[in-house]
Amino acid sequence: MEKYLINPNHKISKISKDIYGHFSEHLGRCIYNGVYVGENSKIPNINGMRCDVVNALKDMGLPVLRWPGGCFADEYHWKDGIGPKENRKKMVNTHWGGVVEDNSFGTHEYFELCRQLGCDSYINGNVGSGTVAEMNEWVEYMTFDGISPMAQLRKENGQDKPWKIKYFGVGNESWGCGGNMDPEYYGCLYKRYNTYVRDYDSNNRIKRIACGPNGGDYHWTREVMDKVKHHAQGIALHYYTVPGDSWDHKGSATDFTVDEYYKTVCKAYHIEELINNHIAVMDSINPQKWVQLIVDEWGTWYDVEPGTNPGFLYQQNTMRDAVVAALTLNIFNKHSDRIMMANIAQTVNVLQAVILTDGDEMLLTPTYHVFKMYKEHQENTLLGSYITTDEIKSDSAKMSCPKLIESASIDDNGVIYSTVTNVSETESAEIKCQIADTDVSEITAEILTGDIHDKNDFNDKENVTVKEFKDFTKLADGFTAVLPPCSVVKFVIK
Ligand code: AHR
Repeated sequence: MEKYLINPNHKISKISKDIYGHFSEHLGRCIYNGVYVGENSKIPNINGMRCDVVNALKDMGLPVLRWPGGCFADEYHWKDGIGPKENRKKMVNTHWGGVVEDNSFGTHEYFELCRQLGCDSYINGNVGSGTVAEMNEWVEYMTFDGISPMAQLRKENGQDKPWKIKYFGVGNESWGCGGNMDPEYYGCLYKRYNTYVRDYDSNNRIKRIACGPNGGDYHWTREVMDKVKHHAQGIALHYYTVPGDSWDHKGSATDFTVDEYYKTVCKAYHIEELINNHIAVMDSINPQKWVQLIVDEWGTWYDVEPGTNPGFLYQQNTMRDAVVAALTLNIFNKHSDRIMMANIAQTVNVLQAVILTDGDEMLLTPTYHVFKMYKEHQENTLLGSYITTDEIKSDSAKMSCPKLIESASIDDNGVIYSTVTNVSETESAEIKCQIADTDVSEITAEILTGDIHDKNDFNDKENVTVKEFKDFTKLADGFTAVLPPCSVVKFVIK
């Protein structure tokens, strides 16, 4: 029996809702067909946004949406995506499949999507191939309420009042697709571009995000932090879980061995080490902790589904992905004192998507269900908690990961939410939870579980769904429970 301790007297940090953020790029079928079908589509839509997808994302609780990329952001010229659609420039999406980008989804459409979702904005600016003036004018176009050429242009395009930008990314992956820069050079460039990202509205102080490291590149973090510490509110780590041994052999999303399953979850768990190490580097340069860590691209990355465009990054999603999402979100919760935002890649039809579409059909992936189960953690206070657990080893990855990974939070009414993941694919886990100084009056619980390969597809959209969990016994100060293998369980404790 494993011991699980939750201490409501130990209130650690507020879990920003933005940790549950998403990323949507002009890539494959994420924007086009995924969220946006255009006003003339037969698929039910409001102002071009698919009603089924928007409603599902709202239900899941999507707090912030990053756009327009990704690699695409550093080739995106925002003026191509405003004004009458018939006049918008057509371009080639060189990064993603070489398809024609007709720019019918641009700035106005993005903010309309945010409005429908009720979420905050995170815009990524173009440093790689854009100019300082272009970035400056985009921010003016979006946020200035006075008399100026860009505010006038926005009004002529039908938007009288400015929008609010919560986060603005100054470049993306500037170490790679965003310009192949060295950190010292990027750090200087960041300062230059960022100078002209103006706060036009005193009620809209934009949080500026610098391009952070790729995985374990601590040199990048050190050098960039040194340059941007007075000028950025966040630095963005990217980390993808790729089970295969190379980018050419990433592994199948659905057809994998038990060894590959453990390799995947151990590699996903590696993000905790990266977070700890990058924060240590950041703190050594900026002990005042002005700059927060954000993880604005994370998730699993497999070979594309057979027969699909390799540039579209369309992959299926199984219980393995649910376990990855659940353990990662528990880790983010536990680091909410320093993680301001995270954005899973990518919302619909791309990489570890929460929704897949096929024509006018849509399904919710196992990853979607994890986000929905966890949504009550948003804006709660993280509690001190600890669980005893075995370690699971992946010999092929030469890595290990705890069998049980948890986090616990409390809301303003004193309700405690505990989410526990059992990573083992064969063994259940007996746990005894004790909650300090608490008389427990009521517990309810939900579970997402199945075989590691279980998925939802267009022949069976509800194969993996959340169910009520009853295999627990309430105690005066906690509970005992038996968590099945490969499961994600949420306890709501009053
Ligand atoms: O999410 C897909 C791509 O991965 C993004 O465009 C890029 O930033 C990263 O390399």
